[in-house]
Amino acid sequence: MNALAIIGGTGLTRLPGLKRTGEASSETPFGTASAPVIKGLMAGREVFFMARHGDPHRIPPHRVNYRANLWALKEAGADEILAVNAVGGIHPAMGVGHFCVPHQLIDYTWGRHSTFFEDDLDEVTHIDFTHPYDEGLRQRLIGVLARVGVAHSAYGVYAATQGPRLETAAEISLLERDGCDIVGMTGMPEAALARELQLPYASLSLVVNPAAGKGKGVITMADIEKVMESGMEQARAVINAMVAG
Ligand code: HPA
Repeated sequence: MNALAIIGGTGLTRLPGLKRTGEASSETPFGTASAPVIKGLMAGREVFFMARHGDPHRIPPHRVNYRANLWALKEAGADEILAVNAVGGIHPAMGVGHFCVPHQLIDYTWGRHSTFFEDDLDEVTHIDFTHPYDEGLRQRLIGVLARVGVAHSAYGVYAATQGPRLETAAEISLLERDGCDIVGMTGMPEAALARELQLPYASLSLVVNPAAGKGKGVITMADIEKVMESGMEQARAVINAMVAG
């Protein structure tokens, strides 16, 4: 059976349902990962966990060593990756507390190490990224969301922004005109690096705030944290159900 790896984002630095059996080094040829890979068992199945921002949460999105995180997971034996991402909602359907399993993304990040194919190459390599998420993994996730009874959208375009600041209202209008439905800071280069390592990858995105200009007033961390608690509880239930098959 495939070994599933979870990359936990803000609000998900640990997986309490994971019976820990060991951990793998965070050292890689691309530097140090955010945290050691936690190895464990869930429903009798081998599962790996990586805290994207470290445990405790301390690495901002633009400073995460995405290459080291992905490399460490692959080295540990992960076969597929489910990323959990907190996002802002742009499309009216993406209300606070809603889940989205994006099918597309647009990358607005800059200055991040976004490829393994950089130095000491035998030949220049361009991965196909037409469909950035793995459709099989996406469909399994969507099936589980429906089974568990969690409100979700099976499609959405994820805008990956640089952060760490949130966007201006005009920037969100631009992303909306570009066709983006949700916005987050960690979706890229993670998805592309997973593809480079030939690891099927999908995202479970939780809307934790209306994107800038889409709600009433300003966005506060206190409001985000309130949603995060209950939302990540649901995310854990989804992960449990996904692992149990
Ligand atoms: N913008 C970008 N990233 C985010 C947001 C947002 O509104 N909410 C959570 N992550």
